[in-house]
Amino acid sequence: MKFVECRDYEEMSRRAAHLIAACVLMDPDCVLGLATGSSPIGTYDTLIEWYERGDLDFSKVKTVNLDEYQGLSGDNPQSYRYFMNTHLFDHVNIDKNNTNVPDGRADAQAECARYDRVIEALGGINLQLLGLGHNGHIGFNEPAEVFPKDTHCVALTQSTIDANSRLFDNIDEVPRFAYTMGIRSIMAAKKIVVVVSGEDKSEIVRTAFTGPVTPQVPASILQMHPDVTIVGDRAAFSLLRGN
Ligand code: F6R
Repeated sequence: MKFVECRDYEEMSRRAAHLIAACVLMDPDCVLGLATGSSPIGTYDTLIEWYERGDLDFSKVKTVNLDEYQGLSGDNPQSYRYFMNTHLFDHVNIDKNNTNVPDGRADAQAECARYDRVIEALGGINLQLLGLGHNGHIGFNEPAEVFPKDTHCVALTQSTIDANSRLFDNIDEVPRFAYTMGIRSIMAAKKIVVVVSGEDKSEIVRTAFTGPVTPQVPASILQMHPDVTIVGDRAAFSLLRGN
């Protein structure tokens, strides 16, 4: 694993954006695996800036997002489809037909199976961008007895519901289930970039990336991937120093 320590969120965002931009420049019709949440927003802002400057072309890029809340339609402002449209897709020249987010309104079993077929038909993921949950989740692969391989419907843990409630009017509105890409598709990505920021992530950064590989800490599996770059700010890396 490669650790890129940055001064702050802004530098973290720029460094992660460099890795994504390099992928798009080298392979204009690449498949990007994308995440939502607070961590990648600055990365998306930077990519938009570079697109506006004329340095990036998304016209042939395909994307596949990690997850979506069950029950939310794409026009619901809390949905991850809405997040992706407003934070990236609406601002660059990507063809929305080439963007994929699980359909939160569709039947769980059928939608999860369909999503795996979509990923397969795309030929896999060139670069997967990830955030890191406080309990070590990646996508919505929550701590479990085994690493879930395929896209599946997951019951969100209380820690995830609490963390995500900041984006809802009240905690009761946070959906209790989500559809998420499985660990197999994430691990099959050629390159993985994780963005982490803030002291509140420092403990899980240490546990996930220097502790034992266990499905109780889903992100720990990334230690087994041949090409992972963790891009984090000083605060998130603070407990790694001296290791
Ligand atoms: C969202 C996702 C989640 C987040 C994680 C961290 O698509 O995949 O795993 O990356 O919950 O969220 P933030 O960045 O908001 O701390």
